[in-house]
Amino acid sequence: MQVIEWREGTLLFLDQTRLPLEEVVIETDDEHVVADAIKRLALRGAPLIGIAAAYGFVLALNKVSDPSKIPAAIERASVLLASTRPTAVNLFRALDRMKAAAEASLARPLHEFKIQILNEALALHREDESMCMAIGEYGAQLLPNAAVVVTHCNAGRLATGGKGTALAVIARAWELHKLKHVYMDETRPLMQGARLTAWELQRLGIPATLMTDSTAAFLMQRGLVNAVVVGADRITRNGDTANKVGTYGLAVLAKHHGIPLIVAAPTSTLDFELVNGSEIPIEQRSGREVTHIGGIRIAPEGVDVYSPAFDVTPGELISAIVTEKGVLRYPFRDAIERLRPERLPAV
Ligand code: MRU
Repeated sequence: MQVIEWREGTLLFLDQTRLPLEEVVIETDDEHVVADAIKRLALRGAPLIGIAAAYGFVLALNKVSDPSKIPAAIERASVLLASTRPTAVNLFRALDRMKAAAEASLARPLHEFKIQILNEALALHREDESMCMAIGEYGAQLLPNAAVVVTHCNAGRLATGGKGTALAVIARAWELHKLKHVYMDETRPLMQGARLTAWELQRLGIPATLMTDSTAAFLMQRGLVNAVVVGADRITRNGDTANKVGTYGLAVLAKHHGIPLIVAAPTSTLDFELVNGSEIPIEQRSGREVTHIGGIRIAPEGVDVYSPAFDVTPGELISAIVTEKGVLRYPFRDAIERLRPERLPAV
């Protein structure tokens, strides 16, 4: 089973909340199930959220039997799926793309319209897969020989339509015999590092060690790390990058210790509207995710909790942003501007 798969009118996906203990596949033809899965992180990771939203959009439109109801259904599906999570821009870019494809096909007979939008979702999924390959290739070149890398959260197969972003870099470096070891932050509070990255790296046979989030500083102080590689949820026009909370702390640490921080992300994670990171909407998660572990309360009843899901790393702390179109270096503004879709030559 893949992480997400379209099969004859239904969507199948792994419920990531159950990993690594159980591999549960959810099969649905209901866009509400997809929206709920995104909200509760059964489907997660910026590129995968975009792909899931595209398929959710198709499921919603598949239910329409009267063509005059299509415009209202497009609107309903967009609002439902856009309201799931606010930070990863891939979600909104995927929905904009699906909406544009749907609107361009409005004049077609209903069955053709449905084929058209499904093809758009499948194309978006396939494109993400090849973007991951290219990111892996470019990113692996940046790592030193015998690289010892720290990664945060999960930016692997479970977060994308392909091999991942940060983990594609790591996996490619391993294939090229350039990688010695990976240290994974557990990634409190939802443990994407401990649950998901550890699971993926084990399956890839890549030597990796799990540590608490607060251990990275000591590891760097001892000179045991020579690169940090992470993914991204939204990158603004100046290179400021939202990623899983804790990334900014790692970036400050990396700077202090003279270690490069590499952000690996497809161009679908670039937000050409926002000037800098202060404008990125940051998702706040439920306090229960912090006060409870595995359903068991660990903090006193009534305690106040602050739980942003993401933080923002200023572009000046980032050594390189690796996209499928190549490697961007600080200052990022001009390089990002050149990647604006309307400025790229048509293919
Ligand atoms: O809350 P999550 O698990 O969706 O957060 C995921 C991350 O922060 C990833 O690093 C990011 O989406 C990049 S995934 C290729």
